[in-house]
Amino acid sequence: MTVSSAPGKVYLFGEHAVVYGEPAVPCAIERRAQVTAEPRDDDRVRVEATDLTLDGFTVEWGESADDHPDVDVPSSLVEAAMGYIEEAVAQARDALDDPEAGFDITVESDIPLGGGLGSSAAVVVAAIDAAVRARGAKIDPRALADRAYQAEHTVQEGQASRADTFCSAMGGAVRVEGEDTRAIDAPELPLVVGYDGGAGDTGKLVAGVRDLRERYEFAADTVESIGDITRRGEQLLADAEPGEAPDAALVEELGDLMDINHGLLSALGVSSRSLDAMVWAARNAGASGAKLTGAGGGGCIVALDAGGDTERALGFSNDCEQSFRSALATEGVRAEE
Ligand code: MEV
Repeated sequence: MTVSSAPGKVYLFGEHAVVYGEPAVPCAIERRAQVTAEPRDDDRVRVEATDLTLDGFTVEWGESADDHPDVDVPSSLVEAAMGYIEEAVAQARDALDDPEAGFDITVESDIPLGGGLGSSAAVVVAAIDAAVRARGAKIDPRALADRAYQAEHTVQEGQASRADTFCSAMGGAVRVEGEDTRAIDAPELPLVVGYDGGAGDTGKLVAGVRDLRERYEFAADTVESIGDITRRGEQLLADAEPGEAPDAALVEELGDLMDINHGLLSALGVSSRSLDAMVWAARNAGASGAKLTGAGGGGCIVALDAGGDTERALGFSNDCEQSFRSALATEGVRAEE
């Protein structure tokens, strides 16, 4: 039996625009998905999943496609989760050169499903790593990131960037621009996450932006402007002392850029009433800036707050189900057992 874990992430800048070749800067956070893999004697795969949201509930499904999991989340989300795990197993089999390798897989996660914190990428990364190691082989993090991207790309019908999977495999702050993926230095950022208890449909949201971009020049310009914001933001990160608390002026400027990034994402139609409400609750509480993170439509926002009131203010907001501070996760995929 092997156990691997991989972190979720927040986007400081650049989600959606990264799908069109603009740069993005996601940062891994200390919320992890953990996958256990046990080789089987036959060629079947059995998957058991628990705690796929912050609420904690159980999702279980068996070998038959007719088995309906008994869960309190939309079945489309569970189907999507199954799709990611199936593709992760396909990648592990390919890496092992054994198309008939069977596994018992258990997924535990404290990253809300579909909430914009990279739950699917973390599960895919951890699942490929655990399954490959369960059969006595090894895969290095860059090769793993590539395989995890292929899995997401297939499930999301070609509408995926390398950002989520690369960040989860490598940990820390990363920069992704098309095929160019690299780790970058970052200061100790005062990140606060607010979660509305909901989820967005990444495929639909990405398709919506694509449609707007094709119909309106403003939307194509907006995507490019998000790229400009990201380039400016990464320059600020590069100027700061890695791993140290950044000075107040830097946090303010990063926050301003996050606010603008959120406005541009709203213009592209991927925010929601509750995401906007949480962004404003954070700003009113003194956060230097706040934006939605991930695909949008519902789920999480990320704020920068060195002061400390944002987490509590979000907790009091009707639109926020849970808020927490989160440190940058310096470790990406990790063998737990
Ligand atoms: C989803 O977590 C982030 C998006 O930019 C899609 C992607 O990069 O694959 C919306």
